[in-house]
Amino acid sequence: MTPLFYRDPFFKAQVDALAGQFALEVVRSRPRNGLYLEYNSEGLTLMYADEPKLKGVQVDFVHGRSGYRRKHGGAEAVTKALGIKKGFRPRVLDATAGLGRDAFVIASLGCSVTMVERCAPVAALLSDGLERARLNADLGWVGERLHLIYASSLETLADVASDVDAVYLDPMYPHKKKSAQVKKEMRLFQLLVGDDLDADGLLAAARATHAKRIVVKRPDYAEPLNHEKPQAELKTKNHRFDIYLP
Ligand SMILES: C[S@@+](CC[C@H](N)C(=O)[O-])C[C@H]1O[C@@H](n2cnc3c(N)ncnc32)[C@H](O)[C@@H]1O
Repeated sequence: MTPLFYRDPFFKAQVDALAGQFALEVVRSRPRNGLYLEYNSEGLTLMYADEPKLKGVQVDFVHGRSGYRRKHGGAEAVTKALGIKKGFRPRVLDATAGLGRDAFVIASLGCSVTMVERCAPVAALLSDGLERARLNADLGWVGERLHLIYASSLETLADVASDVDAVYLDPMYPHKKKSAQVKKEMRLFQLLVGDDLDADGLLAAARATHAKRIVVKRPDYAEPLNHEKPQAELKTKNHRFDIYLP
């Protein structure tokens, strides 16, 4: 359980809403060890009490990397793998939403994206990031195109996705070179989520939606999901997009 800490009573309403939606335990004193969520004037952030100097993890679609990807994301491999092209904006189900970075790039190109995330603190971070993005004048489309469902895709995919063109899967994969390679921020995220050891089941769940295309993002050294050979592959420097056309 990842507690949700806040100090300033001014934020009580926001904190209570997040706690209710994602079944989080609210605490009023800062945890002394482990991972916790903190709500303050910057929004919601994932912190690690054991390493307080480590920068926290926040979903920020306005600044930094997401802002850059929004402006320059047109040629990204994920968009090609999903078949996005002039005149075709597929409706996408992102069944492993995480911090919503890929979903945001896809939506910024005009696609509507339903995101499913099962890890409560991650879903809370994502929900908070979406809320702040909606308030930004340049991101008026966020409320229209990006929708979050807090659930497990293994159980709910066929129900939530009656009408999508493509399913996108990017489950966690056990890292080969743990400490050296993984960026600090990702290390916190991995600590929170762990390895998605049940990820193989996602392919069957995605097929049950009858989407015309399933795209799976894998590290370049990883086996295809469920050891099922894809119909096509798109390779980038460190990753591979496996494309299934059911
Ligand atoms: C590698 S991250 C996804 C990153 C994401 N593509 C992004 O751009 O931010 C994988 C996420 O999938 C979520 N996940 C894994 N299996 C899931 C499932 N069955 N249902 C919903 N979410 C799942 C994990 O909790 C984790 O947050």
